[in-house]
Amino acid sequence: MSLLDTRLASDAGVPVPLICGAMYPCSNPELVAAASEAGGVGIVQPVSLTYVHGHDFREGLRLIRRLTAKPIGLNALIERGSKMYLERMRRWLDVAVEEGIRFFVTSLGNPRWVVDRVAPAGGVVYHDVTERKWAEKALAGGVHGLIAVNSRAGGHAGPKPAEQLLGELADLGVPVVCAGGIGDAPEFVAALRLGYAGAQLGTRFIATTECTAHADYKAAIVRATADDIVLTERVTGVPLAVIRNAYVDRVGTKAGPLARWMLRGRRTKHWMRTIYAVRSVIALKRASLQGASSADFWQAGKSVATIQDVQPAGAIVRRFAAAARAAAA
Ligand SMILES: Cc1cc2nc3c(=O)[nH]c(=O)nc-3n(C[C@H](O)[C@H](O)[C@H](O)COP(=O)(O)O)c2cc1C
Repeated sequence: MSLLDTRLASDAGVPVPLICGAMYPCSNPELVAAASEAGGVGIVQPVSLTYVHGHDFREGLRLIRRLTAKPIGLNALIERGSKMYLERMRRWLDVAVEEGIRFFVTSLGNPRWVVDRVAPAGGVVYHDVTERKWAEKALAGGVHGLIAVNSRAGGHAGPKPAEQLLGELADLGVPVVCAGGIGDAPEFVAALRLGYAGAQLGTRFIATTECTAHADYKAAIVRATADDIVLTERVTGVPLAVIRNAYVDRVGTKAGPLARWMLRGRRTKHWMRTIYAVRSVIALKRASLQGASSADFWQAGKSVATIQDVQPAGAIVRRFAAAARAAAA
């Protein structure tokens, strides 16, 4: 059996169990389409598609459709917070199903309502988790697979290394996908060999020709070593992996005293989270589109260690798949 023949591949309907993970603000339509066209599955990040890249949601999906006829997925961040955002997420989900999307990656919150909405149409839901207790909750909500976000991941990293996390989740009876720390083909093959059903990559796909993030951001990823990645609370209120630069050093990585106080209160916690959500959406959009002079936060994971150049997304998917085939042979 080929290492590529996994439950993720069959659930997503693709030949290569490799997810080009959702990235606010980096998931632009051309990147999502290129990853899918090469045999992986590109995930649409709806806030990125609409707010950063300026597309009406349905028109954006149709633009991707014109670039590839192959399966794509949708990311649903479903943390309880703003009612207005959740209402919009529900509408986006309906439109995605109408437009033929059948693979969904949920993060935060309880994914049950997403499963209830998409499963009758044949939709499959994989949920991002960092620990077994969240995995059990997600499975009670009916998800079909888990994405194990480890301590090397870009975005909101988890606390545990990849091998330990798989050990915690392997007996739950659903496919487990590795997210975090995979920058090159040998790491992808190693994850499949460990027993992962595939991998979700973020940082590697920013350093691609199709990603419209600023060239300075891509160059910073290529240049960075794993030690340059630090976790900061200053963007979203919870630890977010970013590349250390003069700006990060100047402002520090801890939330300010007022924010910390508000995050502790039962009611103020929700306001503070909303403030963070709005502020981070604006700041991250600006940072990804402007050059180094913006002195801002550039998100990336420790996979920077093995990312040596900017490449077409399709070449990455094909190279990873070839390495997995060669390893099995
Ligand atoms: C710039 C950036 C933005 C991200 N935004 C999101 C997001 O909006 N939703 C989400 O579920 N995951 C998000 N992630 C996590 C990725 O989908 C993926 O799980 C992670 O990047 C894997 O780790 P890697 O960067 O080491 O490959 C983001 C990651 C990065 C690097």
